[in-house]
Amino acid sequence: MLHSQQKHSFGQASGKIILFGEHSVVFGKPAIAIPLQDLFVITDIESLNNDVIICSNEIGLNSSLSTLSAKDPIRQTIQLFSEKFSISISNIKINIKSSIPVASGLGSGAAVSISILKALNNYYTTNASLDCINQIAFEIEKIHHGTPSGIDNTTITFEKPIFFQKNKPVEILDFKNTYHFIVANSGIKASTKEVVTGVRERYIKNQAVYNCFFNKMGIICKKAKKAFESGDFKLIGELMTENQYYLEKIEVSSLFISNLISSGQTAGASGVKLSGAGIGGNVIALVDEDKIDAVKTAFLENGAAHVFSTCLKGE
Ligand code: PMV
Repeated sequence: MLHSQQKHSFGQASGKIILFGEHSVVFGKPAIAIPLQDLFVITDIESLNNDVIICSNEIGLNSSLSTLSAKDPIRQTIQLFSEKFSISISNIKINIKSSIPVASGLGSGAAVSISILKALNNYYTTNASLDCINQIAFEIEKIHHGTPSGIDNTTITFEKPIFFQKNKPVEILDFKNTYHFIVANSGIKASTKEVVTGVRERYIKNQAVYNCFFNKMGIICKKAKKAFESGDFKLIGELMTENQYYLEKIEVSSLFISNLISSGQTAGASGVKLSGAGIGGNVIALVDEDKIDAVKTAFLENGAAHVFSTCLKGE
């Protein structure tokens, strides 16, 4: 038993949003995503005299770990950590608090896993590297999302804007200039696993055409990386619009999303696209600071359920 005295340990993880390359990233092309610092999960672990209790007010959970289903992602996260470090997890209460909307394409599931892993790492002083935490979180993502690219867990683990490509070292995105983004949540829940499966089915039927779309999206993402590096705000907006064109081609947009996008454009956004799996989920707009309110209003007037802004500030 490693811990007999009373102690507390914390782990925090933020949400994330994809800026470029969703879907094509599953097929090996690069993508860019940023953490959302204002939305986060905090896990607090305290010692108990017996049992392992999991508490989360947001999902109405206050249960012994042993009563959770074997498939429960929280249970699986704790189990994988225990196996990886050969630690028997006992006598603790794990309190999870989240401000990230669930199943909204904002990384809430990965953030819960990662905040638990970071808290366990602190509690048991296992000195796990971020790469190690990322690997465990990716295992959980694979169990629950089928064939995830790994962009969610990577962005959330490293808490930095990243340029991500499957099976390549993580690259922290270098960027100049300031970028205000407005995120409009459509309020329409779509299963990422189902949308990704749909894309794969269409890809299998039409490989040459889909490969061409994915290549184009990969090129757009690489151009966006360069534009961030040089601080070319205008070009980034244009590339977002171009990326949306190909997301429509692979049929992950919808009339509702298209209407939201048009409303953002009319209100003066410099670039607007869907973000994440699509069908429902989120729309993201790049805006000049003086357009923030107009674009937010346009999104709300056109049916967005929630709207929030986030800012990326470079040198
Ligand atoms: O909607 P989200 O945030 O789960 O994003 C899905 C992004 C995809 O590229 C469609 C899938 C993936 O695993 O990268």
